[in-house]
Amino acid sequence: MAELEGLEFGKSDFVLLDEVTMEQFMENLRLRFEKGRIYTYIGEVVVSVNPYRQMDIYGKDTIDAYRGRELYENPPHLYAVSDAAYKAMKRRAKDTCIVISGESGSGKTEASKYIMQYIAAITNPSQRAEVESVKNVLLKSNCVLEAFGNAKTNRNDNSSRFGKYMDINFNFNGDPTGGHINNYLLEKSRVVQQQEGERNFHSFYQLLRGGSDEVLKSLHLQNDPALYTLTKQGVTEMTSNNDRSDHKAVLSAMEVIGFSQEEIRSIHEILASILLLGEMQFESDGESVQILELDAINHISELTDTDPESVSKSLLYRTVATGGGEVIEKGHSEQEACFGRDAFVKALYERLFSWIVGRINNVIEVKNYNPVLHGKNTVIGVLDIYGFEIFDNNSFEQFCINYCNEKLQQLFIELILRQEQSEYQREGITWKNIDYFNNQIIVDLVEQPHKGIISILDEACLTVGNVTDTICLDSMDSKLAQHPHYTSRKLTPSDKTMDFQKHFRIRHYAGDVTYSVEGFLDKNKDMLFQDFKRLMYNSANAVLKEMWPDGALSITEVTKRPLTAASLFKNSIVALVDKLGCKEPYYVRCIKPNEMKSPVLFDDARCQHQVAYLGLLENVMVRRAGFAYRQPYARFLQRYKMTCAYTWPHHLMDSDRDAVETIVAQHGFQDDVAYGHTKLFVRTPRSLFSLEQERAALIPILVLFLQKVWRGALARMRCRRMKAMYTIMRCYKRYKVKAYFWEVERRFASVRTMTDYGKSVEWPTPPAALSQFHNITFMLQRRWWARQVVKNIPPSNMMEVRAKVAALTVLSGERKDWGVTRTWERDYLANVRDAPQTSATFIHVSKELKNKDEYSQVLFSSFCRKVNRFNKSTDRGLLLTDKYIYKLEPKKHNKVLKRLPLDALTGLSVTSGVDQMVALHMSTKDDIPVCLQRGKLCPNQDRVGELVGTLVDHFTRIRKDQLPVKVCRSVVQLHMRGKVKSITVETKPGQTNADFKKSRDGFILFVPEN
Ligand SMILES: Nc1ncnc2c1ncn2[C@@H]1O[C@H](COP(=O)(O)OP(=O)(O)O)[C@@H](O)[C@H]1O
Ligand SMILES: [Mg+2]
Repeated sequence: MAELEGLEFGKSDFVLLDEVTMEQFMENLRLRFEKGRIYTYIGEVVVSVNPYRQMDIYGKDTIDAYRGRELYENPPHLYAVSDAAYKAMKRRAKDTCIVISGESGSGKTEASKYIMQYIAAITNPSQRAEVESVKNVLLKSNCVLEAFGNAKTNRNDNSSRFGKYMDINFNFNGDPTGGHINNYLLEKSRVVQQQEGERNFHSFYQLLRGGSDEVLKSLHLQNDPALYTLTKQGVTEMTSNNDRSDHKAVLSAMEVIGFSQEEIRSIHEILASILLLGEMQFESDGESVQILELDAINHISELTDTDPESVSKSLLYRTVATGGGEVIEKGHSEQEACFGRDAFVKALYERLFSWIVGRINNVIEVKNYNPVLHGKNTVIGVLDIYGFEIFDNNSFEQFCINYCNEKLQQLFIELILRQEQSEYQREGITWKNIDYFNNQIIVDLVEQPHKGIISILDEACLTVGNVTDTICLDSMDSKLAQHPHYTSRKLTPSDKTMDFQKHFRIRHYAGDVTYSVEGFLDKNKDMLFQDFKRLMYNSANAVLKEMWPDGALSITEVTKRPLTAASLFKNSIVALVDKLGCKEPYYVRCIKPNEMKSPVLFDDARCQHQVAYLGLLENVMVRRAGFAYRQPYARFLQRYKMTCAYTWPHHLMDSDRDAVETIVAQHGFQDDVAYGHTKLFVRTPRSLFSLEQERAALIPILVLFLQKVWRGALARMRCRRMKAMYTIMRCYKRYKVKAYFWEVERRFASVRTMTDYGKSVEWPTPPAALSQFHNITFMLQRRWWARQVVKNIPPSNMMEVRAKVAALTVLSGERKDWGVTRTWERDYLANVRDAPQTSATFIHVSKELKNKDEYSQVLFSSFCRKVNRFNKSTDRGLLLTDKYIYKLEPKKHNKVLKRLPLDALTGLSVTSGVDQMVALHMSTKDDIPVCLQRGKLCPNQDRVGELVGTLVDHFTRIRKDQLPVKVCRSVVQLHMRGKVKSITVETKPGQTNADFKKSRDGFILFVPEN
C-alpha cells in the first residue's frame, strides 16, 4: 500500500481504489501505464504492465533503495517483492517462490531476469569467490537457455518456448549456494514447422549467422539461414535479436558455465545434423523409397559419429520384432519416411535442450551440503512459464500450455483467495465471502481420469487400429457434451467459427480457445522409431550417446508403452504445483498492453480481458475485505512489546492476546484490527508501519540499555578481578614481610655467641615497605654490636677509644692519615720511650704545674715546631691540659713560656695531607700555629689525629661543647695578633725537618719529601 508516489501517478495499490469496479481498475492501470508507472500492487501481488521500452528503474540506485526495505516503504517494484521473498527466506527460514504469470509477451521472462539480478546484487556482500561463481553461473544460464529455448513468435520476439522453474538454494547466511532448473514441455514442433512470421529457435540462426566460416565449413553448413528448410521461414523477419553477437555471448556463457570445447562442438554438430536432416528428401519409385541427397547422409553420419549405412537405413526402414521373436525390416512409405525424419529431428532437438539443462544443473547443483554443518538450506523458486496462448491455429502445444495456466490459476486461487478466506473462518473473524470464479472445473475437464480430455487422448493413442484425430474428436464430443466449458461444431452446429471434424473449443478461465484437433494424436503419442534411438545410442560421440540412453534396448525387448506427451506434461505440472504449493508464494502478474509491442498504446479491451482472467479484481476485493497482516499473538508481542510499558519486558496479563490488545489500544488503532483465535489481523499496513517505526526508534534505546547492563557486568567483573588482585598482593606483601622477619631472625639468631657479634652477617634485602624499618633495625643492630664491642674495652683504654671515635667523626674521609692504628699515648713529653732525655724534667714540671694550676688531666703533650709573629721558628714543648695550654722551652728544663686558658680555644685547623701542621684558634685572635714533632715511639706516624680526637672528645664530653675542626687542602688560614695569615704546606727536597719560612701572606711550612 505504497503511498509514496503522488496521486498524479494514480494509486500505487489497487486496494486504495475508491470503488472496486472494473472501470476504476482499468482507469488506474491505464493512468499509471501512461505515466510510466508499470508496477502496481494488490497488497503483496505486483501487477506489471510491459512497457515495451527500456526503463531506467533497474539500476544500482534502485536496488539500494529497495534492499532490506518493507514493501510499503517504496513505490511498487519487482525488487520489493523479490526482497520480501528473500527476507522471508532469510529471516524466517521459509522456502519461498515467485510465480510470474501472464500471457506470452507480457514481460514474464524479463521480470524473472530482473528478479535474479536483484537477488544476485543483494547477496554475498563479502564477495566470497565460490558464491560469486554460483551467482555468475545462475545468471549466465539464462542466456544459454534463451538461445536454445526461445524463438521469435508473432507476439514476442524472444518468446520462451519452454517452461522454466528455477530453484535457488541459499545457505544460512542468505548467500546463494546453487540451484536447479526444471524445464517444461519444449515446443519442439517448432523445429520442423513455424507459423507464418515466426522463426525457429534462436540457436539455429545464431549458429548460421554467428559461426565462423571455419566452424561452419567443418559442420558442412553455409552461413545463410535462407538456404535451409528449417530456418528459411522468418529469415527476413526483422527482430530485435542480433544473432551474430548473441552467438558470441552464448559461447562465452557456455564457457563460463563450464561446457567443454568438445561439448560445445557436439552441440553444434547436433544443430548442424538437424539442419541437414531438414534438407533430406525422399522419392518413391512405386516400390521402394530412396534418399535423394546422399551427400547429406555422409555429412550427417560424420557429424553424429555414426556409420552412413545405418543413417540411411534408419531413415528408410524400421525394424520390427514379430511375435515369434523374429526381427524384420520394414521399408517406409515416402510419407512415413518424412514423418520419421521429422520426429527424429524434433527428438534430437528436445534431447539436446534437456541435456543442456541437465548439464547446467550439474554445475549449479548444491554439492556437499550438510545441514548439520551449514545450517538450514532454503530455497527461492522463480517460475517463468509460458503464458496463456490463443493463436489463430491452436494445436496440442497450446492445449498443454493453457492447461498449465489453468493449474497455476488454481494454485493462485488456492493460495491467495481460498486460503485467505478460510483462514478468516478458521480464526473466527466475521467475513463476507467474495465470489470468484474457481477454475477447478476446467482443470477437471482436462485432467480428470477417464472423463478428461487427456484421458480420452491417451485412450485413443492406445487403441490398436487406425484411430484418427477425428475419431478422437468424436469421442470427446460424446463424452464431454454436457460439460459447460467444452464445445465443438458438432455440439453447436450453428457456430461457424469452428469446423466440423476439426475444431473443439474450451472455455478457459482466460477466454475461449478453439483447438484444431489435427496432429493431436501424433503429438500425444510422440512416436519415434526405435531405429533412431539405437542409431544415436551407438554413436561414437559420447555427448550424443548420453542423450539417448533408451537406445540401449534391444529390438526384441518388450517395453512398457511409454507415457504419452500429455500425461508426461500433466505429471510434471502436478509435481510443479505441489512444489510451489509448499512454499510461501509471491506473485507477479504480467499484463501485455497491446499487440503491437508499442510503448504508448494501451489497448483497453485487451488489458481488461487480461485483468479479468487473471482474477485481479477479485484479488483486490479479497484483499480489501481482508487484512494485510496477521501474526500469531505471541509473535506480535515478541516483536512489538517494547512499544508499550505494560508489555515490556514481560506482561502480567492473563494472555498474550490481552497484552496485544493493550499494545493496539495504546497506539490507537483498535478499529484497524480484528482478533482471531490465535492471530491478530491488521487491516492496513500503515498501522503496522507506525508500530515498526516506533520499534525502530526504540531499538537503539534497548541497545543502549543492553550495553549499559553489559558494561556494568563487565565493570563488576573487572572490579572483582582487581579486588582479587589486591588481596593476592596484600597476602603476598604480608608474606614477604614475614619472610623477611623469619630470615632476619634466622640469620641473627646466634649473633650473641659469634666472635664478631654478627658484624659479618649480611642483612637480607628488605621488601620496599620495610626499607625504613630496615634502616632503623640496622642501626639498632649496629648499636647493639657496638655496645658489645665497647663493653669489652678496659676502662683504661676508654679515653683512647673515645678520642679515636671523635677523630674519626671529624677527620674520616677528610684527612689521609690520622694514626688510628697506633696506640695513643697522649702525654708524649712524659714518655721516657718517646723523649728519653727530657721526660724526667717534664714529669717534674708537669707535677708542679698540676699542683699550681690544679688541672686534673694532661690531654696531650708533644714537641713541636712553632713560628711566632716575628717569623721566628723554634722548637717547643706543647702541653694541653683540661685547664691550660702551655708552651714550654725544652732546652731550659721545660720552663713555661706561655700559659693560655683552654677556654680560649675556639677551634682547630689541620690539612688533609700527611704533614703535622695544626693551628689552634684562640678567641683572642692570636692563634697558635705548630707543626707536631714525633719522637722515638712513632717517628713516622701521625699525631695530628690524636691531638684533634682528644680535644674534640674532651670538649664534647666534659665541656658539652662542639669544638670546630677545619680540614684544609694545604693552606691553613689563621690570625696572628688579629692579622690574617696563611700557612701553605709544601714539600721541599733536601729538607730534613719540617720548618716554617716566612711567605708573602704568612708562612710556608716546608716538609721533607716522604
Ligand atoms: N520490464 C521491461 N522493460 C522493458 N522491456 C520489457 C520489459 N518487460 C518486457 N519487455 C519487452 O517485452 C518483450 C517480451 O517480454 P518477455 O519477458 O519475453 O515476455 P514473456 O516471457 O512474458 O513472453 C521483451 O523482449 C522486451 O522487449
Ligand atoms: Mg518468456
